[in-house]
This record gives sequence, C-alpha cells and structure tokens, in this order.
Amino acid sequence: MSGIDLTTQNRLRAAAEQAATRAYAPYSKFSVGAALLFEDGAVVTGCNVENVSYGLTSCAERNALFRAISERGAGQKIVAIAVANRNGAASAPCGACRQVMSEFVTPDAVVCFPGEAGPETCSFAELFPHSFRFEKQEGQR
Ligand code: THU
Repeated sequence: MSGIDLTTQNRLRAAAEQAATRAYAPYSKFSVGAALLFEDGAVVTGCNVENVSYGLTSCAERNALFRAISERGAGQKIVAIAVANRNGAASAPCGACRQVMSEFVTPDAVVCFPGEAGPETCSFAELFPHSFRFEKQEGQR
C-alpha cells in the first residue's frame, strides 16, 4: 500500500466526520461522511442522502465521488478515501460503493474507515480485490 502519513489520515478522517454532520438520514438515522484526497492535496467530501423511497438513497462515498468527478473531471489521481459515521459504528464502504470506486480509484489508494476494533486502514486492492471489469473485444459491438 502506498502510504499516507498518520497526520494526513487523521485530517481526512476529520473531513469525513465533518461531512457526516451534513448527512440527510431521517429514515436510518445513520449519518455517513466520506472524504477523498487528491494528489494535488484537494479534498472533496460527500454525505449520504436518503429518500422516502428508500432505494433511491445515495451513499456518502458515491456522492463524494460523483461530486469530485463533476467538479474536477476524472483525470486526477485519488490518493486516499476516508469514511466516518456519527453512530460510533463500524462502517466499511458498501459493495455498491466499492464497485463504483473501482472505476476511479487505483489499487494502491488508501482507504480509512471505522472498523470493528477502531479505525482501520487498508489499500483499495485489499478492500475490493475482484471488481467487475469489461474489456470490449475486437469486433464486438
Ligand atoms: N451508507 C453510506 O452512506 N455508505 C455506505 O457505504 C453504507 C451505507 C448509508 C446509506 C443509508 O443512508 C445509511 O447509510 C444506512 O444504510
């Protein structure tokens, strides 16, 4: 895993915690924040936004990613991602978010999240080793 130092990790966790305060989660009461660190030092955050039609809820991680792509394009490397919640619970990124992350995040990116035994850090490759990929073959429509 290409490292980021502990101070940077803590700074990113704090940004995710701050984002979680803006969560719109009246149904689950589970407020999540995510913060992405780019190679130029920029940080982009997102929070979960729920809907009365529950399935339309959008997770903090995906909201942060889509916001980042919308504001900055998809060209810049994401160095690290931190996730936090206001419920004192373990919350690794969900499967859907991992698949979406795999589109924009390289295997060496650092992922920080609240684990079962406190703050955890791993590489994106460790978090999501078998992403779905689709390579178009020659002659395929
Ligand atoms: N949630 C996230 O924001 N990120 C995840 O990775 C998992 C779950 C949100 C969705 C929903 O608003 C609430 O947490 C409870 O599932």
